[in-house]
Amino acid sequence: MWQDLHPLGRHPGSHGYRRFAWTPADAECRAWFTEQAQARGLVQETDRNGNQWAWLGDPAQGDAVVTGSHLDSVPDGGAFDGPLGVVSAFAALDELRARGTEFTKPLGIVNFGDEEGARFGLACVGSRLSSGQLTRDQAHRLTDGDGITLPRAMESAGYDPDAIGADPDRFARIGAFVELHVEQGRALDLSGDAVGVASAIWPHGRWRFDFRGEANHAGTTRLTDRRDPMLPYAETVLAARREAALAHAVATFGKVAVEPNGVNAIPSLVRGWLDSRAPHQDDLDTVVAAVEKAARAAADAQGIDLAVVRESFTPVVEFDHALRDRIGVILGRDTGLTVPVLGTGAGHDAGILSGTVPTAMLFVRNPTGVSHSPAESATEDDCVAGVLALADVLEGLIHA
Ligand code: GLV
Ligand code: MN
Ligand code: MN
Repeated sequence: MWQDLHPLGRHPGSHGYRRFAWTPADAECRAWFTEQAQARGLVQETDRNGNQWAWLGDPAQGDAVVTGSHLDSVPDGGAFDGPLGVVSAFAALDELRARGTEFTKPLGIVNFGDEEGARFGLACVGSRLSSGQLTRDQAHRLTDGDGITLPRAMESAGYDPDAIGADPDRFARIGAFVELHVEQGRALDLSGDAVGVASAIWPHGRWRFDFRGEANHAGTTRLTDRRDPMLPYAETVLAARREAALAHAVATFGKVAVEPNGVNAIPSLVRGWLDSRAPHQDDLDTVVAAVEKAARAAADAQGIDLAVVRESFTPVVEFDHALRDRIGVILGRDTGLTVPVLGTGAGHDAGILSGTVPTAMLFVRNPTGVSHSPAESATEDDCVAGVLALADVLEGLIHA
């Protein structure tokens, strides 16, 4: 499975993945999913929001056990964030069949669409739509960096953008959802464990800062005559770092757009996106308020207009305690070992589903902790340990 996935959407220069929603690379990943489902005799369907499902047994029976993740990526993403959960889902099914498991409940494997939000700026679009946390009208207003709207992008990929929306009946059939994911930090490396269980996802969000000034000549405009939006933007980036450190949070300006973007032109617009996350909502609120205050002060000092828009927000997610404890028992049954329970600052479809469905996550050790980068990694032994753990968990849930 890894060999087949390896070239899809991989950039020859960076060796990172560029699998953005509704692009040809996304279509190739979707075709791979369909092939895997068909090779195993599963019934494959794509729902109204473009999420792919592969079923063993009839989901209409209800109380289905579902596992999976996503196949899209951030710009120049690694191989594991998302695909590890989907590959492991198919591999865990193979393992269960090899064990002769009796499937007394429907088992589903899912590939959620547009998890990273790399193209339209909002993460987890597929799962948000299905769970009713994003309306069709809101989704129709999403636009990519080239001005292509989400409905146009869906249409050009052969999907009906008017069909999107909440899918409560589909989610009502799910008794438990388990997402396996590469860890995006070093907690398991430090504890010496191959596999862990998630406790919570930090509250997190994205804010867009638009600094508007005046375009002018870089050579002839006196410094005192300039209205340069790059200056308050630069101060804002430094403020974000300072405030995050004070509040035990994280804050990142990882994307910036400049107009007109010429070496010899003072910019008219600097648009920067703040991604901030913290274990506690209060701390996150404090950071964002302080960054905005610093940005306004710096903008005022340079005669720059500033608009701040919150583009997305996900409150804290506490995964289902009963399910988490049951998974702990299932995984410790043979070994007697306690499975580490970790919080994470990364967002996941599992977090979106957790409001509606009993949900849990398994993490697989990442020896460097690096993620959202081509350097993301996991060893083959740990990936196999993840598959076996997922198979144990699915088997335990099917027979619960
Ligand atoms: C998704 O991976 C996110 O945490 O942004
Ligand atoms: Mn990610
Ligand atoms: Mn992911």
